[in-house]
Amino acid sequence: MNPNKELIILKLGGSVITKKSEGKPEVDGENLKRLAKEIADAKKKKNFSLVIVHGAGPFGHVPAKRYGLDKGIMDEEQMKGFSITHQSMEKLNFQVVEALQRHMINAVAYQPSAVGILKNRRLIYFPTIVMEELISRDVVPVAYGDVLLDEETGVNILSGDHLVPYLADTLNANRVIMAADVPGIFDSDPKKNKNAKLIKEIDSRNISQIREIGTSMGTDVTGGMERKLNELLRLTELGIESEIVSAIEPGILRRTLLGERGLGTIIKTDP
Ligand SMILES: Nc1ncnc2c1ncn2[C@@H]1O[C@H](COP(=O)(O)OP(=O)(O)OP(=O)(O)O)[C@@H](O)[C@H]1O
Ligand SMILES: [Mg+2]
Repeated sequence: MNPNKELIILKLGGSVITKKSEGKPEVDGENLKRLAKEIADAKKKKNFSLVIVHGAGPFGHVPAKRYGLDKGIMDEEQMKGFSITHQSMEKLNFQVVEALQRHMINAVAYQPSAVGILKNRRLIYFPTIVMEELISRDVVPVAYGDVLLDEETGVNILSGDHLVPYLADTLNANRVIMAADVPGIFDSDPKKNKNAKLIKEIDSRNISQIREIGTSMGTDVTGGMERKLNELLRLTELGIESEIVSAIEPGILRRTLLGERGLGTIIKTDP
């Protein structure tokens, strides 16, 4: 990889690219198309490297829950659930990659369950040699939250929110952007409380301001916003900042990719 070229790890939330709030395993075609265009526009203007990780929405959360994959119950149904949940995520991934290709992005599917191993839901093995080669050839790997073999529980869930910090650390990324269906982190869930206030910066000093950090209104086996924030706080311990921005408001993702900071919530390293 070219160390002088900016590397961005971008998570496209399942809450944005699917009909998560309706609980249907369907792509939100309008959002996906617009986001693919915003990414393509930014890439045309600025020469950065990009890895995309997308979330699951109902494609992953619903079958994973049905088969109890998040519980790590090693029964005879577990491998069936593994196969079905993975295939469902493949269907979503296929559509994300195609949307990007339609905007002339050299996107290539990157299957986490083919390369990674978990231990109690944490990644303990995920080689990135091939991913690094792809990046250096200006290909955009498109990984996703997936179901993986787990040394302790047989099978478990690799959340996109867990994969992003892992990749940011391993690949030495310059920026981490989480695009979601909310403009950032609020002092309480903005979907439940219309007076919720956006917190522009979070670090260890003001974390207590968040009265209620919730999960998700839709089915979510990976902890929604609460676990997302925990993952990003761990990343700050490695000296890497991240941002949560809206992928619903047109233009925000494009501007963020082009270098604007502070359009959502910044999860900051301690001063
Ligand atoms: N304090 C908070 N600030 C902002 N959002 C919050 C807060 N508490 C809970 N949420 C919820 O978190 C949701 C976003 O998390 P969610 O896991 O659903 O999205 P995602 O990670 O994009 O989806 P996926 O897990 O499918 O990839 C928002 O829709 C919002 O309702
Ligand atoms: Mg989530």
